[in-house]
Amino acid sequence: MKGVVVLGSTGSIGRQALDVIRALPESFRVVGLAAGRNVALLGEQAKEFGPEVVCVSDERALAGGIGIRDGVEVMVGSQAVEELAAHPDADAVICAIGGFAALRSCLAAARAGKRIAIASKEPLVAAGDILFRTVRAFDSEVIPVDSEHSAIFQCSEGRHSRPARLILTASGGPFRGLPRDALERVTAEQALMHPTWRMGAKVTVDSATLMNKGLEVIEAHVLFGTPYESIEVVVHPQSIIHSMVEMSDGSVLAQLAPPDMRLPIKYALTYPERIPGTGGLSFPEAPPLTFEEPDIERFPALGLGYEAGKAGGTMPAVLSAADEVAVEAFLAGRIGFTAIPRVIERVMSAHTRILDPDLETIYEVDAWARSEAARVSDLVSARSERS
Ligand SMILES: NC(=O)c1ccc[n+]([C@@H]2O[C@H](COP(=O)([O-])OP(=O)(O)OC[C@H]3O[C@@H](n4cnc5c(N)ncnc54)[C@H](OP(=O)(O)O)[C@@H]3O)[C@@H](O)[C@H]2O)c1
Repeated sequence: MKGVVVLGSTGSIGRQALDVIRALPESFRVVGLAAGRNVALLGEQAKEFGPEVVCVSDERALAGGIGIRDGVEVMVGSQAVEELAAHPDADAVICAIGGFAALRSCLAAARAGKRIAIASKEPLVAAGDILFRTVRAFDSEVIPVDSEHSAIFQCSEGRHSRPARLILTASGGPFRGLPRDALERVTAEQALMHPTWRMGAKVTVDSATLMNKGLEVIEAHVLFGTPYESIEVVVHPQSIIHSMVEMSDGSVLAQLAPPDMRLPIKYALTYPERIPGTGGLSFPEAPPLTFEEPDIERFPALGLGYEAGKAGGTMPAVLSAADEVAVEAFLAGRIGFTAIPRVIERVMSAHTRILDPDLETIYEVDAWARSEAARVSDLVSARSERS
């Protein structure tokens, strides 16, 4: 029986992680749950799973109280989330907090020597080197949850030679076939309708711009140490092959499964064991598997991901922070869809990369990139109102 802490339990990954735990009551028990502000759902989850601790990072959300039974400790604030990540009864910490806000608790889990089942991609992108130095120093371990990286992890497991090339698959998002001028007019509602995955709002918009793949290219570099030149992206609209590795002799290994995040979440918790599941793919019923090249002209965010990754140092943190702000502005109707990569590009151009940054520098650069992205988004928004 392993103790698990779920950070971001009210989100898309967090809820699916609880589905996994619910289905395996003899293997896992919930030690703690943390959320941002959805106290109603957090309260329900606490009633069902009976954790020792629940955490709410946004103090204001607790104004109406949280209906949970006696004996459950309620903690408040971001410091409390970090403490929960290091809880002595936790063997594994599922890190599914959205955005850069996940970094502090990932680091806390690493310092406490936990297994980190990491879904949150922004901490890996913004501070991957620092996170991995901490993981090594405290004998912690990181197991990827993101389906593409879980696929690569599974395909690379136990091999004598390292893959020569990683091939990340991308669904292409809801606007795959849309011409460039039509992209200018797409709404947030349309961007939130992903063809194959049901996810949180920010990652769904990232999938539509292909920034999600840009972030994943950096994530893959950080997790597997593969040079950017050997990380390729291919559009595979059926989302059945979750990614592939090519060995030096040209042999390609792929991981296939229905598009269901509960599979990589479960594997990150049970690794190296595999617990029997509810069946896999029915090949005669599967749609034809197709592949195409991503269109970097229409979806420049993918190119920005490569550019930031190759620049290294603080540039990935700038990319990630600017993206969070630009996506928020898009979802709030302040900027258009095609303005998202334009805002990010402007912020990246205004930044002078700092190599080998320490944690404090990452936080400073993140704050700068956010305020710069907000400023540029306001300019873009004012310009579109005038025209
Ligand atoms: N969804 C997917 O299928 C998927 C797949 C691969 C990777 N990922 C990655 O996983 C991460 C989470 O994605 P998601 O789709 O699950 O997002 P989501 O649905 O928006 O959920 C985000 C979660 O984080 C919580 N949260 C936000 N700020 C917090 C803070 N400061 N402290 C504690 N909790 C906080 C939210 O709480 P409240 O709701 O209570 O505010 C919510 O539980 C992202 O990095 C995403 O890129 C997601």
